[in-house]
Amino acid sequence: MIFKLPTDSRLHQRQFTFGVATASFQIEGAATSRLPCIWDTFCATPDKIRDGSDGSIACDHVRLFKEDVALIQSLGVDAYRLSISWPRVMHADGELNQQGVDFYIALLDELKAHGIKAFVTLYHWDLPQYLEDKGGWLNRDTAYKFAEYADKISQALGDRVYSWATLNEPFCSSYLGYEVGIHAPGLQGKALGRQASHHLLLAHGLAMPVLRKNCPQALIGLVLNFTPAYPLTDSPADIRAAKLADEYFNLWYIHPIFKGAYPESFAALGDATPVIAEGDFAIIQQPLDFLGINFYTRAVYKADAQHGFVQVDLPDVPRTDMGWEIYPASFTQLLVSLHQAYPLPPVYITENGCAAVDVLQEGQVFDPMRVDYYQQHLLAVDAAIRQGVDIQGYFAWSLMDNFEWAEGYLKRFGIVYVDYATQQRVIKQSGLAYRDFIRQRGE
Ligand code: FCB
Repeated sequence: MIFKLPTDSRLHQRQFTFGVATASFQIEGAATSRLPCIWDTFCATPDKIRDGSDGSIACDHVRLFKEDVALIQSLGVDAYRLSISWPRVMHADGELNQQGVDFYIALLDELKAHGIKAFVTLYHWDLPQYLEDKGGWLNRDTAYKFAEYADKISQALGDRVYSWATLNEPFCSSYLGYEVGIHAPGLQGKALGRQASHHLLLAHGLAMPVLRKNCPQALIGLVLNFTPAYPLTDSPADIRAAKLADEYFNLWYIHPIFKGAYPESFAALGDATPVIAEGDFAIIQQPLDFLGINFYTRAVYKADAQHGFVQVDLPDVPRTDMGWEIYPASFTQLLVSLHQAYPLPPVYITENGCAAVDVLQEGQVFDPMRVDYYQQHLLAVDAAIRQGVDIQGYFAWSLMDNFEWAEGYLKRFGIVYVDYATQQRVIKQSGLAYRDFIRQRGE
């Protein structure tokens, strides 16, 4: 099994970066050697995580990182996208925790020794609990705390890092965490979600110049996720509903970065209008060296008198084990439409992948649905490149099965299977296909 792309595809060229991605809380474990974060608290709250699990052990990566780096190398990838656990590297008084820093130094040195570029995200949702106790992302001061953390850790890790991303998916942190409450810290309220989103974007903007100063050689940017919005019918009401949803869930986070303002529907927020200080958009609107785009699925909307839009679940469409529709054409359309709407810097697909019900049988995992998902989505990336989008790299989510947030360990996204009872890793058929595809690239 090997992925097939047109012979003249940019994805066949060695300059195109292929990688695998993970995030600290989802794989690290070793929770007792760091400060608590909002996800520890959320996991300890009854009924928040579907299987009642937590991140205390996860993939035991802090202990097994050398084996994991060898595994990454065996996949033949150029790069590894990881995130740093803020509560592992900082004490509550704002000083670096050297023990935690040493873990990342060892990990990054190991990657370097194996010839793998490190794409490091500073915030993949594990906010220190002591900051949540002071209001978390509802507190403007958290944005400044983030910039201090970015400053200290980027000085400590220096040129070991090829690329820094400030935030991963501020949509999830703010909307899922503070607006609908299905992610940590589990708060609910439209005003809360919108305020959190503003402070997250501010945190990004404050950290950018700090990273540039400390790491002038690094590729510095931000990772956003997009779930393209489609109208159920071509009625003007449904088209408008999809546009509103697109602004609310997607453009909310990219528009301020490139246009220095929230999308049009900001004007209709009423009571939920966030507090924005003068000069904030100038801070947020920093030039980026790259934009990371995470893509999994699309969503369909129809008009709704009360809320403006409501999501519709189409019957009889292919779906992953998350219940997410498989619709690769929307990936190409998304990339092309962003390219047309905004002056994008080089784009990296920083996450793409799917959950499937995987079974380890006689030492092997056959995951044909995932193989097909990757095949279709790599073709979608290729198609976007042909339509003029400057895409420089692609990261599979995920290197290995891990703690899938509110779903616990029930959903498997890895191209490598993790047997949690033994911590054994087994490369799935999709991982082998990815490896073989990467290996046969031209020189
Ligand atoms: C993304 C997250 C990542 C993972 C995938 C499935 O939203 O960034 O951590 O959970 O979804």
